[in-house]
Amino acid sequence: MMSRNRFAIALAGLTLSAVATTGCNGNRSDAPPVHLNWNMDFQQKLEAQEANEFFADGRASRPQVEGTIARGQLKTDKHLHEGRGFDGLLVDELPKQIELSPELLERGEERYNIYCQPCHDQSGQGLGPAATRGGGFKVAPANLHKKELQPAPLGHFYSVITYGKGTMLPYAAQIPVEDRWAIAAWVRVLQNHGRTKGWDKAVATTAAAAPAAPAEPAKDDAAEHEAAKGGSQ
Ligand code: HEC
Repeated sequence: MMSRNRFAIALAGLTLSAVATTGCNGNRSDAPPVHLNWNMDFQQKLEAQEANEFFADGRASRPQVEGTIARGQLKTDKHLHEGRGFDGLLVDELPKQIELSPELLERGEERYNIYCQPCHDQSGQGLGPAATRGGGFKVAPANLHKKELQPAPLGHFYSVITYGKGTMLPYAAQIPVEDRWAIAAWVRVLQNHGRTKGWDKAVATTAAAAPAAPAEPAKDDAAEHEAAKGGSQ
């Protein structure tokens, strides 16, 4: 009994090592690889951008049926989706679905640093690496602290992210609606930091709800950022 077991084990070992050493020895072959479990790995399907002669326009991807709206694509809430009120004017508060909280601002900071920092820099002065290292901008990324943008309503930042402005492209495809509002709130934090010289999220919390009167950004603050930039970017 014992010896038979050992024999079986030895045989299994030999087979395994034979497979291991000869199975994939670098020879080229046109034959498809052995695929023991086919499962659902190979299915007939049409991929995005693929051609399909079945349809008159030759495209596999079909346009949305006219007069229908896909689930999740109904955008009737002007405040939430466009940053505007019923009067069509830009709003200066967060939509009711989005609560101002430390988590929202943290999210905004994180997303800002991913999507906006490359051009506008971490402090919002428009001196990001893409702008300062030969990005070839005809129009430089805006300084978010500049006087004209200080009194801009929150909806303006949401709107610029959503639709772009001037030479800045829209980021609606990359950034979901909630994150756009979070970034807008974070831009307010940056602006307030520029004004108060304090990295204080509480300041932004009150300002986003009721924006403070516009003020000149502190001049020496800009110099401070300039100095900090060298080390951190
Ligand atoms: C690829 C570079 C780039 C990125 C990334 C970028 N921007 Fe801009 N942004 C610009 C440029 C360039 C301008 C100036 C456009 C103009 O005036 O024609 C601008 C302008 C702006 C303005 C000023 C609009 C006005 O009213 O004058 C705001 C606000 C702004 N960007 C916010 C953002 C935010 C928020 C993000 C991140 C979601 C972002 N930008 C990402 C390049 C960028």
